[in-house]
Amino acid sequence: MKRKLKVLALFDAIAPTTLDQDLSAELKTDDWKTEANVLAALSELGHTTEHLAIFDDLDLLQQKRQSFEPDVIFNLADQFKNNRTFDQNIVSLLAMQGVPFTGCGSTGLTLCKHKGISKKILSYHRIHVPQFVTIARGKRIARPKRLKFPILIKPLNEEASLGISQASFVETDEQFKERVQFIHEKYNSDVIAEEYIEGREFYVSILGNQRLQVFPIRELVFKEVPPDEPKIATYKAKWDEEYRKKWGLQNQFAERLDPVLATQIEKICKRIYHLLTIDGYARVDLRVTAKNEVYFIEANPNPILAADEDFAQSAFKANVPYPQLIDRILRLGLNTVRD
Ligand SMILES: Nc1ncnc2c1ncn2[C@@H]1O[C@H](COP(=O)(O)OP(=O)(O)O)[C@@H](O)[C@H]1O
Ligand SMILES: [Mg+2]
Repeated sequence: MKRKLKVLALFDAIAPTTLDQDLSAELKTDDWKTEANVLAALSELGHTTEHLAIFDDLDLLQQKRQSFEPDVIFNLADQFKNNRTFDQNIVSLLAMQGVPFTGCGSTGLTLCKHKGISKKILSYHRIHVPQFVTIARGKRIARPKRLKFPILIKPLNEEASLGISQASFVETDEQFKERVQFIHEKYNSDVIAEEYIEGREFYVSILGNQRLQVFPIRELVFKEVPPDEPKIATYKAKWDEEYRKKWGLQNQFAERLDPVLATQIEKICKRIYHLLTIDGYARVDLRVTAKNEVYFIEANPNPILAADEDFAQSAFKANVPYPQLIDRILRLGLNTVRD
C-alpha cells in the first residue's frame, strides 16, 4: 500500500479569508464543485487533509504550512487578488520554498496563458496553429492583409471564454475594428485575432510529467446550430444551461473517429504538452478540419477537475475512477522536480 499523505488543499477566494474559515457553505455551491469533489476524494483515499482559501494574504499560507506541515499541496488556487494572471506567481512561490504541489509549474502556466506565445512556440515546431496577430491596447487597429476572414477576436490572456461571443466572429474590416476596440476597452485586455478554423472541436485530456497518458478524446458538438453558422465555444456556450439546450451543445466522447487520426492526435498532443513545459495534468483543445488537419487552439494546464467535467470523464472512460485520478495527480505533484 502507498504511504498516506498530509495534504493541504489550497483554494483561491474572491474576498479576504482567515486561517480557519468555515467554507462549508461555499463548498455546497456549484462554483466550488471542483474543491468539494477533490476534498471528498482525498478523504476517501485516507489522506490527512486540511484546506485553506487565500485571497491576497500569503501569511496565511505560511502559518498553515508551519502548523500543519503538509507533504504536498493540492493546488486549486488559480487567481490571487481577483487576478487570474497571478496563478503562475503562486506556484513560483511554492517552488522557491521547496514545497511539492500538484499540477503545472510557473513556466507552463505562463506559456499557456499567453495565446500568442504558445502558438509561436508550436508553429516553430511545425504544429498547425491558426494564423494570428496580436494587437495591444493603445496600438493602431489594422488587419494585416495575410490574415484572412473569417477571423475570431479574443482577449489575449483570458480563460473560460471570457470576452468570446458570436460577435467575436468577424467577416469585415469594420467588424474587426469594432470588436478589437470593444475587447480593448470593455475587457481592458490586449487582443489576439485568429483565422477561424472550421471543424470539429476536440478536447484531449493528458496526465503525467515525462511519461504521458492520453485519455479518450472528448468533443463539443453543436447539434442544433445550422451548418453555415460559426460554431464557437462562447461564454454562453460553456456556462449557460438554457443556451446549451437551445442550440444542442453537448460535451461527449468523440464518435466515428478514424483510429489513425486518433493516434495522430494523441501524438501531437503529447508533443504540445512537452513543448509548452506542462506538468501534472492538462487538457489540450483542438480543431480538426474536414481534411483531418489538426489545429492547436489552446492548452489548459490545471483544467477543471470537477468529477462531471471533461477531464475526469475522460479519465473515467480509461478506467481511472475519480479518487484514483486525484491520487495520481497528487503523487505526480509530490515527485515533480521544480527548478
Ligand atoms: N482560431 C479559432 N478557430 C475556430 N474556433 C476558435 C478559434 N479560437 C477559439 N475558437 C473557439 O473559441 C473557444 C474559446 O477559445 P479559447 O482560445 O480556448 O479561449 P478560452 O481560453 O477562453 O477557452 C474555443 O473552444 C473554440 O470553440
Ligand atoms: Mg479554451
